[in-house]
Amino acid sequence: MAVLEVVTFPHPILKQKCAEVTRFDAELHQFLDDMAETMNDADGIGLAANQVGQPVRVFLMDVPTNRGSGEKDVKTTGRIEVINPKIIGKRGELKYEEGCLSFPGMSEFVTRAAEIDLAYQDRTGAEVKLTAKGLVAVCIQHELDHLDGITFIDRLSPFKRKIALREYLRQNREAIDDQALREKLKTRRAQQNVG
Ligand code: CO
Repeated sequence: MAVLEVVTFPHPILKQKCAEVTRFDAELHQFLDDMAETMNDADGIGLAANQVGQPVRVFLMDVPTNRGSGEKDVKTTGRIEVINPKIIGKRGELKYEEGCLSFPGMSEFVTRAAEIDLAYQDRTGAEVKLTAKGLVAVCIQHELDHLDGITFIDRLSPFKRKIALREYLRQNREAIDDQALREKLKTRRAQQNVG
């Protein structure tokens, strides 16, 4: 297993619409295990494949189910691997303060459906159906958006997005410059390798 690099905004892969998974093979299983280790390492409750550089329709989640209940021990859904997800039902509205591993330091209130029905495939390709509400439903919608190239700032009003982005860019200027430089070097190396 390996901890993968989590890309941060404005990395272009975060805007990419991800491709359906067609092969449920050892390579996919290895990738899922690496994603799990990465999510653990980053202390995330959800992680989409394009956040670790693979534009495929896969996300992982392990969501607290008793947050705000006052209980000492955190209970979670356990790790759920979601492949080729589709939301097939939506009910109600819920406003929740979300964060994202690709936007370090940012948290914003986003309004989403309060309860959803999800159809997806597990790592063997078997079809699964799930009904989720509360934070689990929020997480699913946030991660599924990632697979469509949509990040949570796209769910804010233009005014709030502008304010949030200005603050994010101010706080993360150095990291963004580093990432941009690494991408540039990677592209240059790739070009040199051609032929
Ligand atoms: Co995110």
